[in-house]
Amino acid sequence: MLQAWDGADRYLLEALAEHAPTGPVLVVDDAFGALSCTLAGRARGWGDSELGRLALEHNLAQNELGAVPWTPMPRPPPGEGVAAVVGRLPRSLARLKYLTAALAPTLAPDTPVLFGDKSKHVQKSAVAAIEEAIGPAASTRAAHRARLILATRDERVGPEPASRGVFGEDELDRGSALLLEALGPLPEGAEVIDLGCGAGALGLAAAKRNPSASLLFCDESHLAVASARDRFAAAGLTNPARFVAQDVLADVPDASADVILCNPPFHQGQAITRRVAAHMFVESARVLRPGGMLIVVGNRHLGYHARLPRYFPRVQVMRSTKRFVVLGATR
Ligand SMILES: C[S@@+](CC[C@H](N)C(=O)[O-])C[C@H]1O[C@@H](n2cnc3c(N)ncnc32)[C@H](O)[C@@H]1O
Repeated sequence: MLQAWDGADRYLLEALAEHAPTGPVLVVDDAFGALSCTLAGRARGWGDSELGRLALEHNLAQNELGAVPWTPMPRPPPGEGVAAVVGRLPRSLARLKYLTAALAPTLAPDTPVLFGDKSKHVQKSAVAAIEEAIGPAASTRAAHRARLILATRDERVGPEPASRGVFGEDELDRGSALLLEALGPLPEGAEVIDLGCGAGALGLAAAKRNPSASLLFCDESHLAVASARDRFAAAGLTNPARFVAQDVLADVPDASADVILCNPPFHQGQAITRRVAAHMFVESARVLRPGGMLIVVGNRHLGYHARLPRYFPRVQVMRSTKRFVVLGATR
């Protein structure tokens, strides 16, 4: 069972009351809206996750709170005029560097910036990255099993914008490479979905090899969708293509696609879960036309071969190594 808040959220709110008791607060990458709901009326959201945005909307409505304005990355953060910034530490150092570099130029001198997480996830490298982008920074003592990094904006520092920290942006994942090895030519005019596209490696390769195919790139990460769009444009491809941030295939009609390519996530934040993959399988079965195929790669130990037959009448092994299995599931 995932809980929607933790000690780090509580600690962040306590520290905020100490360092910036009034004025607008920029909330960065709020996971389920715990920070923004508590700060409703003062909060402005800036985030990567479409699921985070949906959870915030839902939790605001459940608690009868007014709307919180929310800006997706990579649009610049609405930092102007804020009294403070609070956020959860992102899961990767690359992402932390990206967002602090984007944040820094929008903040007034001396604005306090607070990032928090469970104590075990707060590393010295994160303190150094924040100090380099924002200004003097230090980690606090532990409380509620969490630790914060408190920085103060110093306009004399500010690095160049960094890589966005999107999955697959810097190198092709080994599992995705195996899926592409297994992928044969697609039928003329095929409608192809890159589900959980990250930086778009699977859909880009399919488009290159099949100039008549049309592509839908989707991911719940707005940064991922933006990266896929940028890389598609840079590759000079002429296939019709759309890029949509959404939860799995929420906005895609039934029986509308021929092929779905997918390397499912098995982490949600720091938690390991097969739930997202299962949701992707169910939704793929809905969205594929009869005869259409979901091609999926996973670590062998995740056991997708045992799960897929629940939703697809025919499942075949297309490639396998000691570590990965590529499966084709036909509708
Ligand atoms: C293992 S990565 C694969 C990325 C890319 N397809 C590749 O092969 O390099 C899984 C992707 O699924 C995305 N994802 C996670 N949860 C999702 C959801 N609920 N809906 C859509 N995409 C999701 C992640 O943001 C991540 O980009």
